Amino acid sequence: MMKVTDSSKSTKSGPNLTWSGRRHIIDTSDLTLDEVEYLFSIARRYRDGGPAALPLPQEFHGQGVANVFYENSTRTRSSFEFAGKVLRLNVVNIDSKVSSVNKGESIEDTGRNLAAMGFKIIIQRHSAAGACNLLVQAVGDKACIINAGEGASSHPSQALLDAMTMLECRDNLRGAKIAIIGDITHSRVARSNLWLLQLLGAEVHFAGPPTLMPSYLRELGAHVHLRPEEAIKAADFVMALRLQLERQQSGLIPSIDEYQRVFRIDHERLALGKPGIKVLHPQPMNRDIEITYSLADDQKFSLMDKQVSNGFALRMAILYTLLTQTKLTQTNKL
Ligand code: CP
Repeated sequence: MMKVTDSSKSTKSGPNLTWSGRRHIIDTSDLTLDEVEYLFSIARRYRDGGPAALPLPQEFHGQGVANVFYENSTRTRSSFEFAGKVLRLNVVNIDSKVSSVNKGESIEDTGRNLAAMGFKIIIQRHSAAGACNLLVQAVGDKACIINAGEGASSHPSQALLDAMTMLECRDNLRGAKIAIIGDITHSRVARSNLWLLQLLGAEVHFAGPPTLMPSYLRELGAHVHLRPEEAIKAADFVMALRLQLERQQSGLIPSIDEYQRVFRIDHERLALGKPGIKVLHPQPMNRDIEITYSLADDQKFSLMDKQVSNGFALRMAILYTLLTQTKLTQTNKL
């Protein structure tokens, strides 16, 4: 196993980190602290030095990465694609609108066929929770599976890039208070962040409309508030989540005006946090609905651009790690 030296800010000072051999990235709830630190240490090298900071060994050049997105995406899909290309991998985007899925082919058969062609990594976004586990069962040890967001359950690479971004502001997240505001029920980002932030020692406080707040969050260790002010008070970071506008049609919020009045994050609400508080948003965002225009663009507080650039580095780190640190059955030497 390759050892990496992490000389940057870290939640752990151990200089020699090793990868566990985990072959699939399905959710943050699966990851250990050592695995998270390992990915961060590689991602920071790419962030600071670009692809030349840790070149992918030549034996892996040209290997196949399939980007299979059954739902829309800008950031996740393009950053995995770009990350693969700068690492000299062959990245193929499978457009679900013209794939054989539209003729009734299953997720499992799609994955099995991609693995048989020799794709070493399959990155999947799907509307159904559990869709990546079906792929894992289908491909066995022939390919690595990366969950690029599924259902309302999980989006591990988003949570990892969020935490990596917060760690640019502090040495570690132990005892940090993080307020996550908005539609929690339908947010895969909220759930993957909850697991990861708690693993890193942070306190997670949720606030949102009661109709968009699952009842089980307290059992998972989260703090739940009715009003955003309670969650933001003395917080170190605030994460605004996208209001899925179709929820208004389904009667889950009284009106957009009411939502803006009570839950929109603006400079005034942010000022309730600790000095130095920062705001994040996973994007896409509805400007002026969940966050004001002026706050989203205020570089004194907003970490949104950093989230996106860290996402690119983090996704390079995931591809690098899965290719070089896992043992796959060689089905097709490309
Ligand atoms: N944050 C995020 O997942 O964005 P995309 O839907 O554009 O990938």
